[in-house]
Amino acid sequence: MIKAPRGTRDLLPPDTALWNFVEAAVRDVFRTYNFHEIRTPIFEETQLFARGVGEETDIVSKEMYTWEDRGRAESDKGQSLTLRPENTAGVVRAYIEHKLWERGLNKLFYIGPQFRRERPQKGRYRQFYQIGAEVIGPPPSGSESPARDAEVLEMLATLLDRLGITGWTLELNSVGSSDCRPAFNEALRKALAPVVAGMCTDCQRRAVTNPLRIFDCKVPEDQPIIEKLPRMSEFLDDACRENFAAVREILDAIEIPYKVNDRLVRGLDYYVRTAFEFTHRALGAQNAILGGGRYDGLSEALGGPHAPGIGFAIGEDRLVMSLAQSAEAVTRKPDVYIAPLGSGMNRHAARLARELRRHDLVAELGDETFRLKKSFEIASKARTRYVLIVGENEVQSGAFALKNIETGEQVTVARADLAAKIQSK
Ligand code: HAM
Repeated sequence: MIKAPRGTRDLLPPDTALWNFVEAAVRDVFRTYNFHEIRTPIFEETQLFARGVGEETDIVSKEMYTWEDRGRAESDKGQSLTLRPENTAGVVRAYIEHKLWERGLNKLFYIGPQFRRERPQKGRYRQFYQIGAEVIGPPPSGSESPARDAEVLEMLATLLDRLGITGWTLELNSVGSSDCRPAFNEALRKALAPVVAGMCTDCQRRAVTNPLRIFDCKVPEDQPIIEKLPRMSEFLDDACRENFAAVREILDAIEIPYKVNDRLVRGLDYYVRTAFEFTHRALGAQNAILGGGRYDGLSEALGGPHAPGIGFAIGEDRLVMSLAQSAEAVTRKPDVYIAPLGSGMNRHAARLARELRRHDLVAELGDETFRLKKSFEIASKARTRYVLIVGENEVQSGAFALKNIETGEQVTVARADLAAKIQSK
């Protein structure tokens, strides 16, 4: 038997109703913050992620789905392509390719699948879905302002509240800039040199390739060592320090609760200054419901102009998991089950269904060979409110038997009044 590949899953009804409910609510929120949708390809040139996300990250060094795409003709050159592991690099590529700086400040959002070859577990998949947003533009558009950071964070709080998700924590940090981070990395390497041999193999590798990532280590034995390491907060230069204070001042003023976590580092290399995650207590080991931050140097790293930006991506799989709502509660039930009764009645039932659906009613159609008892069984199993009986007599008289399954009441309704009767509570 052929099954879905490891780490992927089918989303089936009624759960898909929950996904649609989330996406509709999120689109509503984006609209009021003047964000507009962007759709980029689900695969890109591999170089985009190597340069954008960073060669030394786990994502690029071991989690990407990459293949060599051969040219179809001798003259076509082949290229290395990769299923996107995230969408920020793709959005910034599009920003450069389409000269979006000419529009000033861009406020963009996307909803779609991402791909990472991670060890699957609850809340962690190889194909997962992100709802993300990016604010990017030339500095005169205000893209660099701490007001953007605070606005994005406030939008996220609003969004989670709107979905009825409580119990989230906003963890906030400043990871410095290319001006002050080198000194921190140096200090980190120095502090690690005498102790790293006693740490886990992941940390030993990180100490060489990307020492900042050591703060992400979850191995209990390593924690006392990590606790004593220097922190980025001690190395922030004046500009970064002021910027971080300005972001927090706005958050305080608009009463968005947050926790400064000076151990917060992110798994992608492009971040500078503000970095954040929202965690949720109901999620277990994979408790980050979303993550994001500033990436002021990314456009330049990809060959574009200076374009400060900030954004986030919500793990939609995890967002849906943390909803209190049930799929049933957001699934629309059929309003009416149309039961054609006897030979030749299918076409009359089809015409009625067409009329009723034009009134935005959800109509389910049976078949003329079904006995009435069977139609009632199907209708009540689907929790349909009405059954409409379409027999020879009804068609001829133009008046139809309409039975309310919940109350058992049956009435005769003229064709022209059917929609209104079914709509009325
Ligand atoms: P990220 O932290 O790698 O950031 O991913 C964001 C969110 O995607 C995570 O917090 C998590 O909820 C979800 N996620 C990541 N990997 C998986 C997985 N394997 N299975 C299920 N959910 C997952 C980014 O991707 C950045 N592009 C965010 C960003 C946008 N930063 C600036 N702009």
